[in-house]
Amino acid sequence: MLTWARKLLDWYAQARREMPWRGHPDAYAVWVSEIMLQQTQVDTVRPYFTRFLQAFPDIAALASASDEALLKSWEGLGYYTRVRNLRKAAQCLVAQYNSELPHTAEALEKLPGIGAYTAAAIASICFNEAIPVVDGNVARVFARFNLLSDDFSKDGNRRKLAAWLTPIIQTAPIPGDFNQAMMELGALVCTPRNPKCDECPLRDACQAKRKQMQDSFPHKSPTKTLPERTCKVVALQNEMGEWLFAKHEGERLLAGFWEFPKVTALPFPLAKPKKSITHRQTFSHFRQITTVYTATLPEAIPPLPETLRWSATPEALPLTTATRKILSKLRNR
Ligand code: ADE
Ligand code: SF4
Repeated sequence: MLTWARKLLDWYAQARREMPWRGHPDAYAVWVSEIMLQQTQVDTVRPYFTRFLQAFPDIAALASASDEALLKSWEGLGYYTRVRNLRKAAQCLVAQYNSELPHTAEALEKLPGIGAYTAAAIASICFNEAIPVVDGNVARVFARFNLLSDDFSKDGNRRKLAAWLTPIIQTAPIPGDFNQAMMELGALVCTPRNPKCDECPLRDACQAKRKQMQDSFPHKSPTKTLPERTCKVVALQNEMGEWLFAKHEGERLLAGFWEFPKVTALPFPLAKPKKSITHRQTFSHFRQITTVYTATLPEAIPPLPETLRWSATPEALPLTTATRKILSKLRNR
């Protein structure tokens, strides 16, 4: 093994964080954790992971999860396509793979929601395949280590780095540890800002450290400014203290979630609408600005369609993140 690779593994043996999925004997649990970790930090994932495995202890349970239970389990994590793909993949596994995960990265990558990096993580951690993971953390470490100016948001450049790492991971006794050591180094030491080079197991061989150019790598891809979407919603409470919610329609991203009704979606007119709060949220492809109105309920309310409902316990519904935040702001006023 190369000297730096040996030092990396020694460092990982003592610096690795305890995580409920590390050392978990069940590949299903590792798969769930890797999907949650795709766009979310380790500390945020922990409680979600534990609750998810209680709700859906195995692939068969996940495959038959109801929409509502599924969304509830992911509420607040964001990027909901992840959990829809997770169930879709579980259904494929029940139908075609005897309810078990396949053991190679190549086969794993054919499942919904599993890309090259997640396939490599699962195959190496659970099935000892010597295939490198290149996520954002790993790309940053090696952009600095080798002074690479590639744009690692591009698949081709990630593949090139994976090809360079392949013969190195092949010399590691436990490929899953090598991959997790690289990810952990990027998360804890070779951080986006102020990397802790003095504690880094790669410091003697790192070119960025030698040239004091840590801040110039990796090169950033230019960021686009996101378009804005505005919407007007109304927060209505009846005399029993129940709130009115509408089921999100259309857009697959949030389908099935409940939220405050759009002003235009009510089957009755509003009395004395008053602007109360504004909520801003950034999604991957747009920025959302929600203006919340309060209003007086009319004396007689017509029967509500299925897409509208009163709830005294909104916590029990899958709510969009914006809705939860708005609700908590309204309650704290
Ligand atoms: N990020 C994604 N997967 C990870 C893992 N297995 N260990 C540490 N960080 C990760
Ligand atoms: Fe990153 Fe510094 Fe380690 Fe180089 S020495 S890999 S820049 S933390």
